[in-house]
Amino acid sequence: MSDIAIVGGGVIGLAIASRLVDRGADVTVFDGGDEGAWHVAAGMLAPGGESEHEDPRLIRLFERSAELWPGFAAGLGVDVGYDDTGTLGLAMTADDVAERSRLWTGQQLPLLRPSQLRELEPALSPRVRLGALARAERQVDPRKVVAALRDRLGSRIVAKRVDSLSDIEARTVVVAAGCGTAPLTGLPVRPVKGQVLRLRGEPGLLRHVLDAAVDGREVYLVPRADGEIVVGATQEERTDRLITAGGVHELLRAALDLVPALAEFELTETTVGHRPGSPDNAPLLGRLDERVIVAAGHFRNGILLTPVTAELIADLVLTGEADPTLADFSPRRF
Ligand code: GLY
Repeated sequence: MSDIAIVGGGVIGLAIASRLVDRGADVTVFDGGDEGAWHVAAGMLAPGGESEHEDPRLIRLFERSAELWPGFAAGLGVDVGYDDTGTLGLAMTADDVAERSRLWTGQQLPLLRPSQLRELEPALSPRVRLGALARAERQVDPRKVVAALRDRLGSRIVAKRVDSLSDIEARTVVVAAGCGTAPLTGLPVRPVKGQVLRLRGEPGLLRHVLDAAVDGREVYLVPRADGEIVVGATQEERTDRLITAGGVHELLRAALDLVPALAEFELTETTVGHRPGSPDNAPLLGRLDERVIVAAGHFRNGILLTPVTAELIADLVLTGEADPTLADFSPRRF
């Protein structure tokens, strides 16, 4: 048995394990076999936050992780779809403009008129009224990131579902089990359902990630270099895995209103996942007791927060010292 066990073979658990291995530690990852939220996630890296209500301490954590992303992606040694073209925020109606303007003003982004927007993205609907380019926002393909981490860790990943932490013999246990963290630790991590679509067509229709308000509906479109466009996402306080007619309709309607040419794309995947939410929607990072450390509850920002989580948790495991940042995200705060 290794000194250190990681419970959870999703992107967070694998990234922590990889960081620990880089630093010479003996690690086993227990992967329960369920595809985590990473499998559905579009991979938007939005350090400015997705709402004007985001806690400044969380925004600082986002920014710190966004700074780590280029090095983290390069360190994986393969193409993981890291792209820094930027995100175009968009608003369709007057109400959408009012709602999005507050966020853009808070982020100090210059506003773009429809003609400027269509210079950047010619396929946009002429109905889009206002936008803003967030150059600091990036994207990555989470499925490629997980594949790269799995390759690096190889036989250190063991296919085993852990039902109780007392079944594990390791000196230190890191619980990075996403929504599965709650039954293992009693911590308040709840599943927040998201339905996500994947379309495929001619590459190059879109250049930027689009993050839009369309008649009061939120939608994002994440274009990959190979012609895939990820369309997300619903946000539902539900635990089921149903892909609903209403969910798919809502996403397709908003996507096609925004970019009418997508009507010709193939609908290649309809997927559902559960974001691990916490009561304040900030992650739970740090020591739970002598032996157990938690890295969970990343909610809508698991991919963005992967590098900083790996760094902070690996430090805590190896030195026993908690970075001061962790005080704001203690799993014992609830
Ligand atoms: N970060 C996007 C989402 O959770 O849908």
